[in-house]
Amino acid sequence: MEKREELYRGKAKSVYKTDDADRLVLLFRNDTSAFDGKRIEQLDRKGMVNNKFNAFIMQKLEAAGVPTQFDKLLSDNECLVKKLDMIPVECVVRNYAAGSLVKRLGVEEGMKLNPYTFELFLKDDAKGDPFINESHVVAFGWGTAEQLARMKELSLKVNEVLGKLFDDAGLLLVDFKLEFGVFSDGSIVLGDEFSPDGCRLWDKDTKKKMDKDRFRQGLGDVIEAYEEVAQRLGVPL
Ligand code: TMP
Ligand code: ASP
Repeated sequence: MEKREELYRGKAKSVYKTDDADRLVLLFRNDTSAFDGKRIEQLDRKGMVNNKFNAFIMQKLEAAGVPTQFDKLLSDNECLVKKLDMIPVECVVRNYAAGSLVKRLGVEEGMKLNPYTFELFLKDDAKGDPFINESHVVAFGWGTAEQLARMKELSLKVNEVLGKLFDDAGLLLVDFKLEFGVFSDGSIVLGDEFSPDGCRLWDKDTKKKMDKDRFRQGLGDVIEAYEEVAQRLGVPL
């Protein structure tokens, strides 16, 4: 496999073509962004930690029957993935109230949501990733009703699998965001990444925040917290 030119540069990762039309390289950078890219800082080791964290989680999901884009680790900061046609919709599952849900509805942070909630956001930084619903996805042609149903089904399966995995490591999976794409065979596949950048994880006993909220809220020790989560899960760093 040969890495070729850059295809796309996101806020935290860069995507490269390869000599295989069905494979891409994801490069995890140290850039850490919040508030739709309005704040960006470099955090030492973040690219490496998130790359290895993501590989570990994607392999667990694949083993549990969730089709993922992940193929293999290539280096500390890079992995090989299946090329997907990304659907520009973020799927958010919440088990406890936090973040924008608390702001929008004025409920107490940490309130248990029973059952979990499933929300959609349009992936568009310029518009501030607006809250949308299922009919918008279909009406604007971002995805079909069938694709959306599969994205929801897979998101809930991820919640089941990872809720248990984090619980066993003494962590609450508060909420998380997933992105999906369409593979060359037409199937819906989990893309992007799963790392403490795109989810909320709290220590079960102390409720200490162990995710990107440490960066968003200026709590410090951001990567130290990511590393502790990785260590508790048994992710080799
Ligand atoms: P929110 O509370 O800001 O809506 O975020 C819910 C979860 O989704 C939280 O774990 C952070 C994650 N998320 C992202 O990773 N990127 C995004 O652009 C958004 C909107 C949420
Ligand atoms: N990842 C998004 C951004 O960079 C949202 C966030 O994590 O706050 O702005």
